[in-house]
Amino acid sequence: MKIKEEISLKPYNTFNISANARYYTELESTENIYEFIHEKKFQNIPQLILGGGSNILLTGNFDGIVLKNQLMGVRLIQETPEHYFIKASAGENWHRFVLYCIENNYAGLENLSLIPGCVGASPMQNIGAYGVEVKDLIHEVETIHLGSGQTQVFDNPSCKFDYRSSVFKTSYKNQFIITSVIFKLNKKPNYTITYGSIEEELDKMGIKELSIRAISDAVCRIRKSKLPNPSEIGNAGSFFKNPVVPIKIAEELKEHYPDIPIYTVNPTNCKLAAGWLIEKCGWKGKTIKNCGVHTKQALVLVNYGNASGKDILELANRIIASVKDTFHVELEKEVNII
Ligand code: FAD
Ligand code: EPU
Repeated sequence: MKIKEEISLKPYNTFNISANARYYTELESTENIYEFIHEKKFQNIPQLILGGGSNILLTGNFDGIVLKNQLMGVRLIQETPEHYFIKASAGENWHRFVLYCIENNYAGLENLSLIPGCVGASPMQNIGAYGVEVKDLIHEVETIHLGSGQTQVFDNPSCKFDYRSSVFKTSYKNQFIITSVIFKLNKKPNYTITYGSIEEELDKMGIKELSIRAISDAVCRIRKSKLPNPSEIGNAGSFFKNPVVPIKIAEELKEHYPDIPIYTVNPTNCKLAAGWLIEKCGWKGKTIKNCGVHTKQALVLVNYGNASGKDILELANRIIASVKDTFHVELEKEVNII
């Protein structure tokens, strides 16, 4: 385990923010993790587990140690008549893993194509897109407790998955390092194409026979048309969660704003589209200092150049205040503020 000092984190966060870490190390094996845990020097300073850095906002230098997860490996560990159980190490690139599953006809993850980041972060906020959430495909999450060094396996219910949430983002944040995820994928595909414009995109592509590859291609095309590519414009995807509100509140808003998008969550709650609320408040396409609200997707905040994390946080807080003022709805940040 090699420890580096005063490392720039700019290449390690998709917001492209300039900030330094006091210490930085790459964990390439579970032995590296145990070695780290036994180094007393690092036990009482802040620790940041890092994957692809595509869901963090660095608001200053990090006065602690960054643990860059580089555990690699993917393998089929079990097969039943209906399912494949695939174990993927946390440092694997998410989209590459999805493509590997598609190539091998392991079905289920195709709607989650092109989400940036690593496998190890996927349970953290229960990544989701185009009608699928990763919680529906996760069998188990393998972890090591950073305090005690004990391994702990979380079965699906123990992860307490929710919309953009899990125990790893809430009560156990920064306590467990996820080392691998075991996915339960389908032998017989169960196509999800009703969300958003997938069907329309498949038509445009001239697809006659549905396949997991065709769905993945359609999702990639839609995403490329809407979301900024982090290698061109710094961003971390949706900056806020879509707010979940009681049905009564949604109905009241509908009376004032008949075109407001509302999605039913359960018999008592609805989800509102934060992008729509932010756009209605006039923020879409706005630039302040060197950051702004993306021109094609108001839920995505962008760094046009040398914005600091504090500039972006300030913009986010102004947006929260503005949406609250107009709609009396509180937006919650999805991105992890560091
Ligand atoms: P990081 O940003 O490195 O880390 C995120 C958090 O997880 C941090 O708190 C970190 O400490 C923790 N963490 C990371 N790895 C581990 C580990 N091994 N063990 C324990 N904790 C860990 N998200 C969606 O859900 N749906 C989308 O459609 C989507 N689209 C996006 C589009 C763009 C253009 C971008 C830039 C982001 C998008 N995101 C989306 C957000 C992001 O890609 C996901 O949240 C992704 O899972 C983050 O992975 P990461 O490896 O980059 O995590
Ligand atoms: N909308 C607007 N204006 C905008 C953006 C959106 O009016 O500027 C409206 C759209 O017209 C649509 C609704 O809002 O009626 C929803 O928009 P979209 O389908 O683009 O999805 P989203 O709710 O903005 C969510 C996820 C994305 C995920 C997409 C696709 C959250 C916080 N975001 O975005 O996830 O890729 O759905 O499933 O749930 C992420 O988490 O980082 C992320 C990108």
